[in-house]
Amino acid sequence: KNKSPLLVGLGDGTFNVVASDAMAMLQVTDQYLELHDGEIVILTRESATVKTLDGEVLERAPYTAEIDASDIEKGTYAHYMLKEMDEQPAVIRNIIQHYQNENGDIELTEGVRELVSEADRVYIVACGTSYNAGLVGKDILERIAGIPTEVHVSSEFGYNMPLLSERPLFVFLSQSGETADSRAVLVEVKKRGYKALTMTNVPGSTLSREANETMLLYAGPEIAVASTKAYTAQIAVLAILAYDIARATGKELPFNLMPELARVATIMDSIMAQKELFEDLAERYLKTTPNTFFIGRGLDASVCLEGALKVKEISYIQAEGYPGGELKHGSIALIEDGTPVIALISQPKTNLNIRGNVKEVVARGANACIISMQGVEHENDDFILPHVEPLLAPLINVLPVQLMAYYAALARGCDVDKPRNLAKSVTVE
Ligand code: G6P
Repeated sequence: KNKSPLLVGLGDGTFNVVASDAMAMLQVTDQYLELHDGEIVILTRESATVKTLDGEVLERAPYTAEIDASDIEKGTYAHYMLKEMDEQPAVIRNIIQHYQNENGDIELTEGVRELVSEADRVYIVACGTSYNAGLVGKDILERIAGIPTEVHVSSEFGYNMPLLSERPLFVFLSQSGETADSRAVLVEVKKRGYKALTMTNVPGSTLSREANETMLLYAGPEIAVASTKAYTAQIAVLAILAYDIARATGKELPFNLMPELARVATIMDSIMAQKELFEDLAERYLKTTPNTFFIGRGLDASVCLEGALKVKEISYIQAEGYPGGELKHGSIALIEDGTPVIALISQPKTNLNIRGNVKEVVARGANACIISMQGVEHENDDFILPHVEPLLAPLINVLPVQLMAYYAALARGCDVDKPRNLAKSVTVE
């Protein structure tokens, strides 16, 4: 094994198997043997011997996978993506349960608490959807915990490291825990003697093993290439981290997180119960268009990046996520008669500004779809989401854009779960 993930699945004496990931072998075994970089494994039908490159035999006890084969079945769902979007309320409840003690207080491990208490700045490093979740996490960490936070794309950070603070804490966000670009940064960071915390959905994954501490996402296996429930799980876990730091440093808390997350889960249920409305919106705005824009401000702009990514990944529509105010500095030139522009509006502070931006694109012929939230809604908005604390709005307003991307892909005849040119976990640089 050299950098890329490799795992041995132990059979019942009549076979053994190797793959990059436990999920590929779950149907045949739940017993696994971990391999570390620089080790080789000699596999026969009956035996698996792990050795160093010098030929020294290593004793390695197998472990039992914690996921159940039934967790990775589609059940009655047409696609994994649909199943995984539907699971989001349950994932949020699961996260609350795992990170709260019997008094309802947030409980993190001493190790995690120590790591964050030593830090003067957080560097979130991630790719794809995890990066987009990191952008939301930055706002939450800065506003709640008061700790300066930067978010970086792994493949850039590895080669162009910014000037670091004195006591940086690296937070690796990765659903799979196997992304090679992120791992390359982790290796470099460790070489420089810095501490790292991994937030991942996969216990025992490379990024989890190699970081000082791990916070799990408890989202259950995510199979669809387009990530959905890992995004909302990452935001929820980042919020929990922010609240814990704030409590430890005596910051004033604007609202009580765990009950609000529980309310978010209930609201998510209600949104998922109205899927057909988003199927209609996808039909109306995205079915035939060659391009689209998602616009918002502040946290909504971050969700717009995720909306655009979802649409690009699975429906192959050229999509841009943009801060509404920035359009006039160039991209508004692309607005033509009928260009769909999907606006997310949940932040009271910028409600009027973004509505002004919508007017600007409509004046150039755009076909605007407005998804707003109670408290900032206008009567004619296409969909009005129930109110949640604006800081947690991304957990709610990402659902409509996930659903619209899904239904757009279906309407365009795309392979939703296995989009062209993409892989679920990218284990090469
Ligand atoms: C791949 C997947 C994306 C994912 C990204 C980061 O590109 O197709 O859906 O967001 O990797 O994956 P990670 O497992 O590190 O979160």
